[in-house]
Amino acid sequence: MERAFEVNGLPEDEAGEPACFPRIVDELAAHGYCLLDDAIPPSLSGALHARVTSLSHAEFAAAGIGRAQDFGQNERIRSDEIHWLGLDDAAERAWLAWIEQLRVYVNRHLFLGLFSYEGHFAHYPPGAFYKRHVDAFRGESNRMLTVVLYLNPEWHADDGGEMLMYAPQGEEPFARLLPRMGRIAVFLSEEFPHEVLPAKRDRYSIAGWYRINTSVAGRIDPPD
Ligand code: OGA
Ligand code: MN
Repeated sequence: MERAFEVNGLPEDEAGEPACFPRIVDELAAHGYCLLDDAIPPSLSGALHARVTSLSHAEFAAAGIGRAQDFGQNERIRSDEIHWLGLDDAAERAWLAWIEQLRVYVNRHLFLGLFSYEGHFAHYPPGAFYKRHVDAFRGESNRMLTVVLYLNPEWHADDGGEMLMYAPQGEEPFARLLPRMGRIAVFLSEEFPHEVLPAKRDRYSIAGWYRINTSVAGRIDPPD
């Protein structure tokens, strides 16, 4: 087993499970979502912030939106740029290790059968937005659980950039989240429409999704 990186100064397998995991599982079971501050060690959010702000413009790609892309509607729905996470960078690996611990913990307690994860940094330049959407359409996607992590130190209410969350058929948001450093939002991907309001400053986050394995006999469904 590779033990190449550390979380919060401790080798990963000696660190135990993060203190916030029981709360995440309890709130997911009760409400289908969990909003939490200080979810990860400041050393990790700091490393991820350093990483995302060190990426050059060329290392980001304009974000796509699945079906609507076909109709050329992309820029009208979202205007962020993204960089997919991988194993080459130490900070990204440390986040992926945390995400893997959470995957195992959630499966153990909620039997969701989370199978894989895909995630990206997102950069919303001033004025960028993501209109109301859901991350998965019933029966069309194997995205099960969304995790958004915010990476913006010293973010204030008048900076904007809130994420609004709606009940499945709701017209008024039930939550308005400023994208503050170390804050996370975890929610069932099919259930909760949400949107990102324009900000006055550059806004950074990681958005990612746990997927279930929808392979059936004779048909392989790779997590691509
Ligand atoms: C997404 C998304 C929310 C955010 O990338 O699908 O909804 O607050 N991101 O960054
Ligand atoms: Mn989304």
